[in-house]
Formats: sequence, structure tokens, C-alpha cells
Amino acid sequence: MDRFERYIQDNPLHIESFHPTFNTALNEMVLAGGKRFRPQLLLSIVHEYAPLLEDSAMRVAYALEIFHTYSLVHDDLPSMDDAALRRGHPTLHTTFDEVTATLVGDALNTEAFGLIAGAAFADGVKVELIQSLAKNGGIDGMIIGQAIDCYFENTPLELEQVKFLHIHKTAKLIAASLQMGAIIVGLEQTQQQKLYDLGIDLGLLFQIQDDIIDETCSSEEAGKTTQNDGDKNSFVNIVGLERTYEEADTLAGAIEQNFKELDEKLQSALQPLMQKYLYRHKGKVQ
Ligand code: IPE
Ligand code: IPE
Ligand code: MG
Ligand code: MG
Ligand code: MG
Repeated sequence: MDRFERYIQDNPLHIESFHPTFNTALNEMVLAGGKRFRPQLLLSIVHEYAPLLEDSAMRVAYALEIFHTYSLVHDDLPSMDDAALRRGHPTLHTTFDEVTATLVGDALNTEAFGLIAGAAFADGVKVELIQSLAKNGGIDGMIIGQAIDCYFENTPLELEQVKFLHIHKTAKLIAASLQMGAIIVGLEQTQQQKLYDLGIDLGLLFQIQDDIIDETCSSEEAGKTTQNDGDKNSFVNIVGLERTYEEADTLAGAIEQNFKELDEKLQSALQPLMQKYLYRHKGKVQ
């Protein structure tokens, strides 16, 4: 088990009360696993530039992961994607109920900001981290993406609008993960911007690959409900599976080129994740 996974196991969220199941529900989806892609992006940068800050960065990486998990818990609710399986487990609203799942999502969202506020970094750094998460995970990021995703079910959008949707619902949080790593290690603004832009492309690719997973994988293989995008503006529904693969290849190629423009140190920090994720649409589920 890697350090981050151990950190999660060792730091379950806990609230004192006489509610019989809330603590279990609160931690269930976080502990259920997942690729931990967003925290890994952040931690890779910290590991390369400032290994002494890694311990303190764990808490921020954890905040990112629970924020992302909140988005998944809400995404699966009957009023949104109505999914029964997530991370190989029944979704929270099926194990418990909708009220619990809604409130667990709310709690993971709030707690993410609380964790960053309490991290062992200078106040100015923490404000920047909180701003990045709020901007990219909030109304101008994941939220407006999810709102468009659900509002336009069964209403086909233009390809550019689908890209806007995917960039907001998924790519911005992934870009923020890189940006937050850069903030922690104090990278200069131009470097931060390059990383953020790379993160947007990487996140768009990540969601295109996710759309392919929905179409081509069983729920068992994916560990989550698939064949569930029928009403959605997924890439596959808008341009077809074949062109979706082509778009993924083209975007992965462009990201590879831009990646080579980054400082060598950044390249070495992110190379393993690039290798793992850039062409994941070529293999089985990841
Ligand atoms: C799923 O995210 C939702 C998307 C934004 C595509 P992940 O594919 O990162 O899910 P986990 O965290 O590994 O479960
Ligand atoms: C969800 O996109 C993006 C989020 C912000 C959670 P999807 O609805 O495609 O994610 P999955 O396929 O359910 O994981
Ligand atoms: Mg969704
Ligand atoms: Mg979904
Ligand atoms: Mg999906």
C-alpha cells in the first residue's frame, strides 16, 4: 500500500454523535478505493520539488480526494445519474438512503475545505489552495458542468458545447490538482499556468476515456454502473465510438507534445502518471 493510501486508512473522518451509521457512510466511498488520480497528480509535484513538504501535502491530497468523492456520491444519486455501483461497491444511497448520501456528499465537500484550512502551510498558500479548489470544483467548474450534463439530457449539444461540459465537470478539478501541487511548492506563475493548461487537456481526455468506458465496459469491469450514458451528451453519443477513439488519440498526442515543453523537472515528476493515463483508452479499464 502506498503512503497516500495508508494516510487515508489511518485518518478516517469521524464525528461524535449518537447517529448509528453516519460515520460508516461518511467513510465508505472514500475507503472503497478508486484510482486516486487527482491526489497523485498533486503529490507527484510535491515529491519532485519539495519532498520535505510531502507529509503536510498528504492532508491537501486527501482534501482533493474527498472533494472528488463527494462529486461521485452526488453524481450517482437517483436525481442525477441514478447509478447502483461505484468503486466496486453498492452506491451510498442504495446501502443507506438518499438523505444519507446527500448529506455525506455535503460533508465531504465542506470537510475538504476544512482540511486545507488546517494544513501546515503558510496562510497565503492555504488561501490560494482553497481558491483553486473553490473555483475549479465549484460553480465555475464541476458544478456548472454537472448542471449542464443533467439539464441537457436527451438534448444533443454541439461538439464544442460537449467539450465545455467535459472541461467543466471533470477537467477543471484535474487541472486544479496540478495547480495545487504547484502552489504548495511555490512554482512561478508561468509554470503554474502551463501546468493548469496541460491539466485541462488531460482532464478532457480523462472524461473522453470515461465516456468510452461507459460504452465498452461491463459494470463489473469498471467497478461502477456502465451503459448509463444513454441520455447524456457523452462523446460517444455525439460523435460515435470510432471518432471518440480518434479524438482521444489526437488529444493524447497533443498533450504529449505540450508535455515536452515543460521544465525537465516537471516532466520527470509527471512522467509515470502520463504513461499510465494518456493512452488508457487503448487498453482495458483503468
Ligand atoms: C470518475 O472519476 C468520474 C469522472 C470525473 C470521470 P474517476 O475515474 O477518477 O473515479 P475513481 O476516483 O477512480 O473512482
Ligand atoms: C461525472 O461524470 C463527473 C463528476 C463530476 C462526478 P460521469 O457521470 O461520467 O462519471 P461516472 O461515469 O459516473 O464515474
Ligand atoms: Mg454524471
Ligand atoms: Mg455518472
Ligand atoms: Mg462516465
